[in-house]
Amino acid sequence: MLTPVTTKNWSRPGSHTLEVYRSGGGYQALTKALSMAPVQIVDEVKKSNLRGRGGAGFPTAMKWGFVPKGTGKPIYLCVNADESEPGTFKDRYILENDPHMLLEGIAITAYALDCHRAYVYSRGEFKKPSAILDAAIREAYQAGIFGAKVLGTDYALDVHQVRGAGAYICGEETALLESLEGKKGWPRLKPPFPAVVGLFGSPTVVNNVETLANLPAIIENGADWFAKLGTEKSGGTRLICLSGSVNRPGVYECSMSTTFRELIFDPQLGGGMPEGRRVKAVIPGGSSAPVLTAEELDLPMEFEALKAKQTMAGSGGVIVMDDATCLVRSLWRVARFYAEESCGQCTPCREGTPWQARLLRKIEEGRGEQADLEMLVQVASSIAPYPPIGLGNTICPLGDAAALPVHSFVQKFKLEFQSHIAQRKCPFGDSPWGHFGAFG
Ligand SMILES: Cc1cc2nc3c(=O)[nH]c(=O)nc-3n(C[C@H](O)[C@H](O)[C@H](O)COP(=O)(O)O)c2cc1C
Repeated sequence: MLTPVTTKNWSRPGSHTLEVYRSGGGYQALTKALSMAPVQIVDEVKKSNLRGRGGAGFPTAMKWGFVPKGTGKPIYLCVNADESEPGTFKDRYILENDPHMLLEGIAITAYALDCHRAYVYSRGEFKKPSAILDAAIREAYQAGIFGAKVLGTDYALDVHQVRGAGAYICGEETALLESLEGKKGWPRLKPPFPAVVGLFGSPTVVNNVETLANLPAIIENGADWFAKLGTEKSGGTRLICLSGSVNRPGVYECSMSTTFRELIFDPQLGGGMPEGRRVKAVIPGGSSAPVLTAEELDLPMEFEALKAKQTMAGSGGVIVMDDATCLVRSLWRVARFYAEESCGQCTPCREGTPWQARLLRKIEEGRGEQADLEMLVQVASSIAPYPPIGLGNTICPLGDAAALPVHSFVQKFKLEFQSHIAQRKCPFGDSPWGHFGAFG
């Protein structure tokens, strides 16, 4: 039986309010944290094996440890609520259902980092979640949780929410910082990493919403408790965003050892597939994660296990595609997204992403040749080779994100691409949503 961490309050009426959050023990972890030395909190988080839930799965305490001490500059905490990876919609649920769990996590983290100003950078389209979070921030100020004397102590903390303008690239941590500074969201070259030179040139930690929402439970119940909920190298549970061809799409809090088969077929989770359908492919961690085949469903949805299979747990967005789905058309859709969202700073990504989309359109529409398929792989390779992951030719990993699906779809489902070319049409018939898009 799973012990819920981040979803434990969601079914309570009024779960987004301070009153309900406090009635369930909310902000007691912050009281406890304020009685601890900041270094003790960092130690607890280290022992808890908490890893980032924003995409890369980086160990959270290790990232915090890169922040230099005694520079004389302010330290900032930036919370990544941009959530734009296709197939990912969990942070929005936290913001709407339990914003105070995030705010408590922010306060604990900020105290541990000796940070006195935190920003939440929210996705431009998040009108409702942003309004709920703003109301929660106001409640926290009125209750003395934020401000000059956090819960009556000498520790001061200000928290602000800033809304983006709806650009996927601004979820990349350095583009996010540029955007927060009021500039165009173009990623920065790393190093220096944000922990050393971040917002306004100061040391900055960027963490995902779900990552920080775990903090109250870690402080309240202890690192060992949290670590034991997970696997050897990944503590806690995970929010999984399940969509596509399943009977019960939605956000589920799962154990890290849950397999894709369990996720799809468990009556309490995905509840199986629509009648008569079979799994053809599964995107395991947001649209940029290399695709899995039906033979790989027994893999657990955990960071290390998926990395070993040259893919990633990413942002927890699991998209199930059935045997009636045209994978060429699906990949073309994904390719159009990355072409649209490329910031244009690096040539391989700016030129390569629309090129991928054009080639996929040609193949899908029955005008493709074998040479187009070879060119598609060549274009993807010039953005980012496959494998290994993470060695792309661009400043930020948006290039990798655009190339990896192409590599993996073509490698694992080559026959489907070839049958489009051989039959000079899409074997799956006309798309119900037609052919559209600036880059299609
Ligand atoms: C193109 C791109 C988009 C990203 N979008 C998001 C996002 O929407 N939310 C997020 O938390 N991380 C996103 N990331 C990852 C962030 O750069 C960063 O690794 C993350 O916010 C760190 O938080 P964590 O360590 O808590 O996971 C994105 C990365 C890339 C390359």
